[in-house]
Amino acid sequence: MVSSSYGLTGRAAVITGATRGIGLAVARHLANAGALACVTARDADEVRRTADELGGIGLAGSVADPGHPRRLTELALREFGRLDILVNNAATNQPYGPLMDVAPEAWSEAFAVNVEAPLRLVQCAWRAWMSEHGGTVVNVCTEGAGHVGPNVGAYGTSKAALLHLTQQLAGELAPRVRVNSVSPGLIRTEMARFVWEPGEPEVAAGLPLGRIGEPEDVARAVVWLASDAAEWVTGADLLVDGGTRVRSAQPATTYPVHEHLRLHRPT
Ligand SMILES: NC(=O)c1ccc[n+]([C@@H]2O[C@H](COP(=O)([O-])OP(=O)(O)OC[C@H]3O[C@@H](n4cnc5c(N)ncnc54)[C@H](OP(=O)(O)O)[C@@H]3O)[C@@H](O)[C@H]2O)c1
Repeated sequence: MVSSSYGLTGRAAVITGATRGIGLAVARHLANAGALACVTARDADEVRRTADELGGIGLAGSVADPGHPRRLTELALREFGRLDILVNNAATNQPYGPLMDVAPEAWSEAFAVNVEAPLRLVQCAWRAWMSEHGGTVVNVCTEGAGHVGPNVGAYGTSKAALLHLTQQLAGELAPRVRVNSVSPGLIRTEMARFVWEPGEPEVAAGLPLGRIGEPEDVARAVVWLASDAAEWVTGADLLVDGGTRVRSAQPATTYPVHEHLRLHRPT
């Protein structure tokens, strides 16, 4: 866990998708660093449990629902009186499968959750607080946005859009607001269970750093980007992938992650 405050004491953070996996680890690390946490996810019980654990606040709902981004930022402003950090972490990996089979509604939903919601939340945070007082945004993308893979066309395309959105916003909102992204490789969470669980030793052996990622690996990177330690960093994408991108220089030539994407489906 982060032991220093990273200068985050008393800062207010909104974290989406914060009830499990990477989002929960980010929320815990931010709270541990002294930040006030406002969390959201769809399951109301989990939101309540997480907010209680963190000594923070929460609002249940889908980030894709019209009005949810505004209600969420209004809640943070009302309860904390400020909004310094926004972490756009909630995402969907649906629709899964070849793009020729993807229904238009499912494609739209993927973009609503993975791209449009982050933009709406940044707009709300900017208008309500950040344009005047400054702030930082961290978007959670994916290492996979840099290349193509089996069955993940909608997910990969939407995350590539989020990566571009990150850079565009970084340019538009500087110098008041820094906007960066973290791109995780394979992380031990529910969303990716269908990829890592069927053959973890084999997947781990195919990664240069020899193991799959833990949510905390990503959380530490997010907290650093959100903190003043990264005060001269904007428009950056920080890969946290155990060396996935550089694996071709290793003796092993196969990439088990793509084999699992071909053979298994998300539950
Ligand atoms: N795990 C990986 O290997 C991996 C790799 C690269 C990138 N990522 C990215 O990391 C981020 C977190 O993924 P994860 O693996 O931690 O997933 P996860 O364990 O499935 O957790 C997802 C979180 O988001 C919430 N959520 C899902 N849809 C939502 C919506 N429409 N509105 C609000 N909250 C929603 C979930 O709660 P509810 O279900 O209650 O809403 C949950 O709290 C995502 O952006 C993902 O694309 C993950």
